[in-house]
Amino acid sequence: MDNAAQAARDLPPADAALASAIAGETLRRLPDLDALIDGATKQPLPDDAKARMVLRLALAQKIGLGTPDHALVSTALPLVDGGPRRLVHGVLGTLLRKGIPQIDAPALPEAVEDRWRAAWGEEVVQAARRAIANRPALDLSFADAAAESEFPEGASLAPLHRRLDAHGSVTMLPGFGEGHWWVQDLASSLPARLIPQTAKRVLDACAAPGGKTMQLAAASHEVTALDRSESRLARLADNLARTGLKAETVVADALDWSPAEPFDAVLLDAPCSATGTFRRHPEVLYRARRDIIEQSADLQSRLLARAASWVKPGGSLVYAVCSLEPGEGEERIEAMLADFPEFRIEPAPALVDGVTPHPRGWLRVLPGMLEGEGGLDGFFTAHLVRSGA
Ligand SMILES: C[S@@+](CC[C@H](N)C(=O)[O-])C[C@H]1O[C@@H](n2cnc3c(N)ncnc32)[C@H](O)[C@@H]1O
Repeated sequence: MDNAAQAARDLPPADAALASAIAGETLRRLPDLDALIDGATKQPLPDDAKARMVLRLALAQKIGLGTPDHALVSTALPLVDGGPRRLVHGVLGTLLRKGIPQIDAPALPEAVEDRWRAAWGEEVVQAARRAIANRPALDLSFADAAAESEFPEGASLAPLHRRLDAHGSVTMLPGFGEGHWWVQDLASSLPARLIPQTAKRVLDACAAPGGKTMQLAAASHEVTALDRSESRLARLADNLARTGLKAETVVADALDWSPAEPFDAVLLDAPCSATGTFRRHPEVLYRARRDIIEQSADLQSRLLARAASWVKPGGSLVYAVCSLEPGEGEERIEAMLADFPEFRIEPAPALVDGVTPHPRGWLRVLPGMLEGEGGLDGFFTAHLVRSGA
């Protein structure tokens, strides 16, 4: 761990939460913040200049957190002591005097907008801009209908689901200690809903931290939860202990592991660029370069090939990624169907109003869907069935 990461870990919780909020608000609006800065300087600042970084943080606090001007100035200037203090003071003063516009639909990084425009069209790019401006709602998944009906707040957009506006500590919400529910974006709850109720033994092949394992266990499947990360599986075990749900856990690399016998159903929630989670994790937009997506797609195809061999004849393979990249979703499934002709797509039902199944049978969740209700993470999931029972 480098010094900065260690220093961040050592912060008191309130400071850590503030630092994380400032970083998040900065990443949500980076291209627009840079445009404001560039409009107020005579000479463009290099992208990695400390002055630019400090100005971005100050402006993000003003726009995203409503921090008062005097507090912005007094926290920004010490960061450039012995450096470009006059420059930062001058630019910040100019911008604060002029008035900083509220940025309601911030631009995403240009490379991401270009990619998503080509894949999904301009309307989706505009919806993504609106979506990134605000922190999303909190979705809860419930273990059973009785626990959901007792929960006092929120709108239910699907069975065993509630959506809240809450942004505080989830441990303070009713039923947390009793393990009645867990936090899970509604889109992320869709893949487990595609596993047929008749499947007895189900493998969750990339399981940690266990949102989908808990759904499967709550639906009375016999679940094996596999993940190569021991620490993430420990979180899954904590989640199972809290909710009182049961699953067998296996620490293994799915590329090497083989089960003693095939499963009735396999859920492969593959590692991916996670670009669908950009509302909560705007940093993913800066990590997901084209070459990273290609590497990720290669791993996904290898994992799909492994998972295919663990499905009984007549059994199900549900593939999922929290990605807005067709290369990690649609294209992986088309490639898999070409390589494994014994699989076909089982058309997904409309599980949530506003997420219409694609004519090819899969579910593709895009920015703009359910916008009036608070939106969803970007997601892809497909249900494949192996021939011959
Ligand atoms: C998208 S996350 C899974 C989220 C989880 N299904 C849930 O709903 O909480 C992907 C997981 O795949 C695991 N993973 C990545 N490569 C793997 C591999 N080769 N074998 C097993 N697990 C792997 C990661 O450790 C990570 O926990």
